[in-house]
Amino acid sequence: IFASLDAAPNDPIFHLTDLFNQDTDPRKVNLGVGVYQDDNGRVPLLKSVEKVQKQMADDPDPWTYLPMRGWEPFNEAAQELVFGADSEPVASGRVATIQSLSGTGALLLGADLYRHQIDSDAPMIASDPTWANHHSLFRYAGYRTGSYRYYDADAQDIDVEGMFADIRAAEPGTVVLLHACCHNPTGYDLGPEHWGPLAELLAERGLMPFIDLAYEGFSRGLVEDAGMVRAFAAAGLSFFVASSFSKNMAMYGGRTGAIHAVCADADEAARVKSQLARTVRSLYSNAPFQGATIAATILTDPDLRAGWEEEVTTMRTRITDMRAALLAALVAAGVEDMGFITRQAGMFSFSGLSRDEMIRLREEYHVYGLDTGRICMAALNSRNVEYVASAIAAVHRG
Ligand code: LMR
Repeated sequence: IFASLDAAPNDPIFHLTDLFNQDTDPRKVNLGVGVYQDDNGRVPLLKSVEKVQKQMADDPDPWTYLPMRGWEPFNEAAQELVFGADSEPVASGRVATIQSLSGTGALLLGADLYRHQIDSDAPMIASDPTWANHHSLFRYAGYRTGSYRYYDADAQDIDVEGMFADIRAAEPGTVVLLHACCHNPTGYDLGPEHWGPLAELLAERGLMPFIDLAYEGFSRGLVEDAGMVRAFAAAGLSFFVASSFSKNMAMYGGRTGAIHAVCADADEAARVKSQLARTVRSLYSNAPFQGATIAATILTDPDLRAGWEEEVTTMRTRITDMRAALLAALVAAGVEDMGFITRQAGMFSFSGLSRDEMIRLREEYHVYGLDTGRICMAALNSRNVEYVASAIAAVHRG
């Protein structure tokens, strides 16, 4: 039965981690996958998360089922974090939020609902470049996928004009995938001045915005990073948001996130929510409770919340510091053309290194980044940053 199957191609991100784990060189550095590490090179267990984990261990719950829509206190807390507790869309009940398997699961739920219930022929377009899995996921959900212009290599910036022109040319109904902040892979984000005109364009052309908010808190702050979402809601758009606690609670394996559908009114939201829950039931029945319990407890307990917000600030500041340290070390090593590193935001830097240079970095220096040139700033630390800079300097000079 399975004889005709070829092996699947390697995943460009997770395969690198496999290669890294097999590498026995002590100098090795994994700048591939988007995972935050502390200055000791370890994925942190946040204090706020640990406290709730301990409470749960002291007073354990039975492993019962969550509802198909997930845990409602989590849904409410996740929605308030994204839209603002006192915001109009939350107060009017016009956001349908259900728990998802992190950001990826949220994307899948939205993609599935839209295609099966709204527009079975809609294509999806995403920035060029985007997180590679965006295309795979939407294709898997049955979409034709394409791109809009985004990264301008010569200008080392966003091609805003090209982006708007390509979105304007998209056929009505097209899902337009947008990164709320910390653009993956480039690190270049639209400024607040673009959100209003973009919302207008999306509405005028009858497009379906889908905002990926995987890195809330890693660019400028928890509130600021939700700015595009809040601007679109204020502009009266209907759209999806995929949000995640993988990064900002460092709960990568917790698979905790939410899909939010911003609707016209509360009645519409209730119907959408029931459809999303039905989708969950058909795909995997219901979500796991541990991560949702941890996230909801942190978000709703004032002390835990304050502690967590400080931890997010610490992670964000450390990444910014590492950008500055990498740039300084590169300049010291004679690399003069990478000043953009400190203008980019979030976990990633699109380094501009070629595929060959990235392969040399990996094979000769044991520094792992994506072939596209993406390197993870959140995996740099005070002990590896100079080594990474010297390795980049060596391959970049040729
Ligand atoms: C990444 O882009 O490295 C992360 O979002 C992890 C993943 O799932 O690919």
